[in-house]
Amino acid sequence: MSAEPLEIYLAEQDIGRSLREDVRSGLTARPKWLPPKWFYDARGSELFDEITRLPEYYPTRAERAVLAERAGEIAATTGAKTLIELGSGSSEKTRLLLDAFTRRGGLGTFVPLDVSVSALRQSTAQIAAAYPGLRVRGIVGDFTRQLDRLPTGGRRLVAFLGGTIGNLLPIERAEFLTAMRAALEVGDWLLLGTDLVKDPGVLVPAYDDAAGVTAEFNRNVLRVINRELGTDLDPAAFAHVAIWNPEQEWIEMRLRARRPIRTRVLDLDVEFAEGEELRTEISAKFRPAGIAAELAAAGFVTHDFWTDPDGLFGVTLARAD
Ligand code: AVJ
Repeated sequence: MSAEPLEIYLAEQDIGRSLREDVRSGLTARPKWLPPKWFYDARGSELFDEITRLPEYYPTRAERAVLAERAGEIAATTGAKTLIELGSGSSEKTRLLLDAFTRRGGLGTFVPLDVSVSALRQSTAQIAAAYPGLRVRGIVGDFTRQLDRLPTGGRRLVAFLGGTIGNLLPIERAEFLTAMRAALEVGDWLLLGTDLVKDPGVLVPAYDDAAGVTAEFNRNVLRVINRELGTDLDPAAFAHVAIWNPEQEWIEMRLRARRPIRTRVLDLDVEFAEGEELRTEISAKFRPAGIAAELAAAGFVTHDFWTDPDGLFGVTLARAD
């Protein structure tokens, strides 16, 4: 079956408005910040895919190892009719789930949701071609905002993979999981990928690779702002910074001004002092007990928790209670 046209829940003017709101609040704050969703234009999505193949970036390989091992079990336990994937990107690892559901039979619909139109167009076309008989409904949207629009009917499994939940602050995470639970019925399922706390000597290089791909990905947010808002921020004027915050147990990515910078954006004069940093992403790392506790607080019961053989990455299968 071919993919149906994408449902644009994040309409163009909403995208523009929410970028302008984020730029206004983030660039007037101290310290300056921007949300990570603005990395993912076509180039940013490609750079992220390149990151997932880097030797230093273990999360994708580790999560894939878990899914390869457990996909059959996930399909059998959940018996889902509809698979919804939040922040689906290329949906590359999701094929392991789709393969298992195809062997088992019963899955009717796959609903990938992502902010990146380009990534969704590609993934929906490829998946519709590879899984004849599967209905593929791509939704362009922000996973924190579109939860009330998830498709209904039949047992649902929501997959939120890659550790992307780590992009949310703890309070946002709690709100997100609560909204997710409210959008589901008792007996629906959540498959949650979480990167685990480990030696900073392993964590930091995953976000500061030798080839400089993550640095380019980080700077890409400046290109997005330049294009969408007409600014002239020079990406080369910003250094890529990735640090481990041991109190919060998250990685922070920042862009550090190499020299004083001023620009006009919207109706604002924005100035960076030399050395001033803009926070572009947090990527929280988790402990198994913490994941189960956060899920329980939101009304989910942990059914399974698996890691890869090296214990780098965790995948939880939880049931809406
Ligand atoms: C897509 C959010 C899971 O946090 O590891 C990769 C994004 N940032 N390298 C992550 C990312 C820098 C990634 N997630």
